[in-house]
Amino acid sequence: LYLKKTSSTPEYAGRKNTFHVALLGYGYWGINILRNLVELPQVSQISVCDINIQRLNTVKKMFPEIFVDTNYRDMLTDPDVDAVCIATPSSSHFELCKFALLQNKHVFVEKPFTSNTQEAAELMELAQSRGLIISVDHTFLYNAAVHKIKEYIDTGQTGKVAYIDCTRVNLGIYQPDVNVLWDLASHDLSIIHFLIEEHPTHIRAIGKFNLEHQRVDMAYLFLYFSSGLLVQVNCSWASPVKIRQIMLGGREKMIIYDDIEPTHKLRVYDYSRQPVDEEQRNKMLVDYRLGDITIPKFSTQEPLKAAIEDFLSCVQTGNTPISDSASARQIVYWLEKAEFSLKNNGELVAL
Ligand SMILES: NC(=O)c1ccc[n+]([C@@H]2O[C@H](COP(=O)([O-])OP(=O)(O)OC[C@H]3O[C@@H](n4cnc5c(N)ncnc54)[C@H](O)[C@@H]3O)[C@@H](O)[C@H]2O)c1
Repeated sequence: LYLKKTSSTPEYAGRKNTFHVALLGYGYWGINILRNLVELPQVSQISVCDINIQRLNTVKKMFPEIFVDTNYRDMLTDPDVDAVCIATPSSSHFELCKFALLQNKHVFVEKPFTSNTQEAAELMELAQSRGLIISVDHTFLYNAAVHKIKEYIDTGQTGKVAYIDCTRVNLGIYQPDVNVLWDLASHDLSIIHFLIEEHPTHIRAIGKFNLEHQRVDMAYLFLYFSSGLLVQVNCSWASPVKIRQIMLGGREKMIIYDDIEPTHKLRVYDYSRQPVDEEQRNKMLVDYRLGDITIPKFSTQEPLKAAIEDFLSCVQTGNTPISDSASARQIVYWLEKAEFSLKNNGELVAL
């Protein structure tokens, strides 16, 4: 149903290579998007829309040449606008994406893509019927550390992966319209989807409801795979410290990815299961390690910049973005099922 277009698709031939991009939403994340848009040579013109006039005044002060407006409909009916970045609250993504696609604009939309899979499917069909690109900002798919982990898995260096344990906790910020699974676990699910080709068979989620904020603000999510792989995601807005850690255990190597760590974000632990004699076993009980620890080097390019560049390059060539709508829809599907499990006391849900 959702054909992947390639650069050989005729309608993409001779497309322009600089773009007028409209940004909808200049809040916490929109600020980062604008900073990158301003730096990219492919972006010839920028317009910014926010319903909050004070935020637009800030834009105007910093970048007087940028056009600003409080009404996204007026902005998107401008035929000069080629592409749209949507960084508004999650519950508005569907409406804004749909309007943008109906105006024949390519769309870069924040995660989570939509609030349910029906909405995602409708947007995908609309984009496909009009030859438009949708890229969903699952930013970690553009993170070089995540690509390095994938390289370790795909080249067989980790051996069969037995578990992945993700911790993504911090204090706030409470999103106004989604719970912590949709806000934080969406990152880990996108990473798992990218790293592991196998699809999980079951999902389970449990969490704690915060009365003051009327949202589930801490949750544990489990994905079960027929190969035996077990994935756990711990996400919270109620943690006194910020932790961004993924621990992956393979038969040959274990990997820790600590995104807070400034330089040594990845550590790879040798863990070949060679037969150990009594003496080695006793030594291991003292050392708690079996082999060397490697700290691989990788690019430090800002992932958000790479995500926007990939989007604009796909607009130009017709190629499919790394973070395309089909993979984003899969994340929405898992979140939907996790939400069901959450509401049913952690019921195991088949996928
Ligand atoms: N990819 C990432 O790593 C990442 C990080 C943070 C947030 N996000 C995502 O970005 C989105 C926004 O989150 P945020 O934390 O920046 O929220 P925010 O509340 O700080 O900003 C949202 C902005 O959108 C504006 N807005 C709301 N409705 C609008 C409309 N109809 N038209 C124009 N402007 C409108 C608000 O006035 C506000 O300025 C969410 O989907 C969130 O999940 C992604």
